[in-house]
Amino acid sequence: MDAIPSLDARALTNRQAPWDDFDPAAYLEHNYRTLREDDRQILAAVRDHFAGHFEGHPAPEGLQGLDVGAGTNLYPALAMLPWCAGITLFERSAGNAAWLRGAVREYGENWDAFWEVLREQPAYRRLADPRALLRETATVVQGDLFADLPERIADLGTMFFVAESLSSAYQEYQDAIGRFARALRPGAPFAVAFMENSDGYEVGEHTFPACKIERTDVLSGLREYAADTLAVSHIDVPGSQPLRDGYTGMLLALGRLRA
Ligand SMILES: C[S@@+](CC[C@H](N)C(=O)[O-])C[C@H]1O[C@@H](n2cnc3c(N)ncnc32)[C@H](O)[C@@H]1O
Repeated sequence: MDAIPSLDARALTNRQAPWDDFDPAAYLEHNYRTLREDDRQILAAVRDHFAGHFEGHPAPEGLQGLDVGAGTNLYPALAMLPWCAGITLFERSAGNAAWLRGAVREYGENWDAFWEVLREQPAYRRLADPRALLRETATVVQGDLFADLPERIADLGTMFFVAESLSSAYQEYQDAIGRFARALRPGAPFAVAFMENSDGYEVGEHTFPACKIERTDVLSGLREYAADTLAVSHIDVPGSQPLRDGYTGMLLALGRLRA
């Protein structure tokens, strides 16, 4: 009998990867136990992007925020908090969704360092109790962004390390960006972060696929959806703390959806 070909864990489509085996505790410990310099730079840029946008476009009360593929990262949601009556944390993995439900109820002290960066902007300083506000505001929705993410539900949105980190297939990278963009309403400001040139990553005992992308891929992926103000910046790997082998930095796209 022919041997069953074994799958290369770094060359998987989104459906083939073991999302329910994603270990939230291991991922949190590796990535967000402390505030890294690259995350600090990203957080500061996202903070200024959203605050600047809403200074120029005064918002009606009660906007809806969306973070797609939230994993165990709360800082995109915290960055949207001043403007939102509701924030949807959309996530495929059952384990990550369970982690998010617990974190929304009472988030850990590690996130206080992230909040301190946000507090450098007055819009965030006005919020006396971000823990209580996130509890009131955030809802965790478990689903597959390719099948279950509704269109035109959000007035501001984030998607961090997801489009390029859910499959090795370039087509799925592009499709994930399209699904995210279609979930936003016209004019919505957004922030999307990417690992540059990653070809896969380990979380706990498991390997997950990634698609190697560079700045030109971010620009071409977002161009049809974004207004002309789209800006993509590169965040270097901090010399003392590479997150993992085999990536060349992070990319951050800040923009707003075409009206
Ligand atoms: C590399 S992690 C990024 C997590 C988090 N956003 C962050 O900034 O660290 C990729 C995340 O995408 C989620 N994901 C993968 N495929 C997905 C899909 N089809 N729909 C929704 N989420 C998905 C994974 O479960 C995981 O939480």
